[in-house]
Amino acid sequence: MEKNIPKFDVLPQHIGFIMDGNGRWAKMRGLERSAGHKEGALTFRRIGEYCADVGIKYMTFYASSTENWNRPKSEVLALMKLFKEYLKEGDERIAENDIRQMRLKFIGERDNLPKDLLKLIEKAERESAKYDKVTVNIALNYGGRAEITHAVKEISKKVKSGVLSVDEITEELVNNHIYTAGQPDPDIIVRPSGEFRLSNFMTWQSAYSEFWFSDVLWPDFSEDDVNKILEDYQKRNRRFGGV
Ligand code: IPE
Ligand code: IPE
Ligand code: MG
Repeated sequence: MEKNIPKFDVLPQHIGFIMDGNGRWAKMRGLERSAGHKEGALTFRRIGEYCADVGIKYMTFYASSTENWNRPKSEVLALMKLFKEYLKEGDERIAENDIRQMRLKFIGERDNLPKDLLKLIEKAERESAKYDKVTVNIALNYGGRAEITHAVKEISKKVKSGVLSVDEITEELVNNHIYTAGQPDPDIIVRPSGEFRLSNFMTWQSAYSEFWFSDVLWPDFSEDDVNKILEDYQKRNRRFGGV
């Protein structure tokens, strides 16, 4: 909190972070990949808190994708274990969330998550639901295409039962059926680790997002990197198709 926070004229309302590079970070140190995920979780906490202190109102952190199940079973299990451990440190987290009035929201597919993890997710959401200053979305078992597919199914059910007519399907309606309904789209999406792709992150929401890439591996991502992003964001000229 005591950190020296520069002042910015224009702040993005919503920043998306693709937390990539944990495995390479660990490998470079001769460690197991899971050690990189552990360090990455600490970075998530640090960067989330810093962004909140800067005044960012919405953040989305990509923690795991629907495709990450294709990894070796041992890594998938280590990831699930880490998510659970992180959420189990509940009391500490509640106190921190209280200071910054942070609401946690999990976006992604829930059907195939372990039951005990799902319970912890629901608890974290329930207990932080009273906060409205900062919204932190954690994209866990998330896929942009799966999200759109989910929305299509929900809308189809409503059309089938007669609650909605086909003519009522608008962009706004679709927007209201995706996991981030009611939130602004990400103004800028950050991908560290030297990759230049979205990897199924916020497919619908990223239509007019700015992008910021860097070679830093996520566990090394710093408050200074956030400052660089925000400085750079001042110079972006967002036109949304206008002139
Ligand atoms: C991102 O780090 C975290 C997850 C996908 C869960 P990676 O595990 O993809 O790390 P790299 O890209 O292999 O270095
Ligand atoms: C995207 O990273 C998912 C997360 C960072 C959580 P990946 O490491 O899974 O993406 P690819 O496979 O390099 O595209
Ligand atoms: Mg990766």
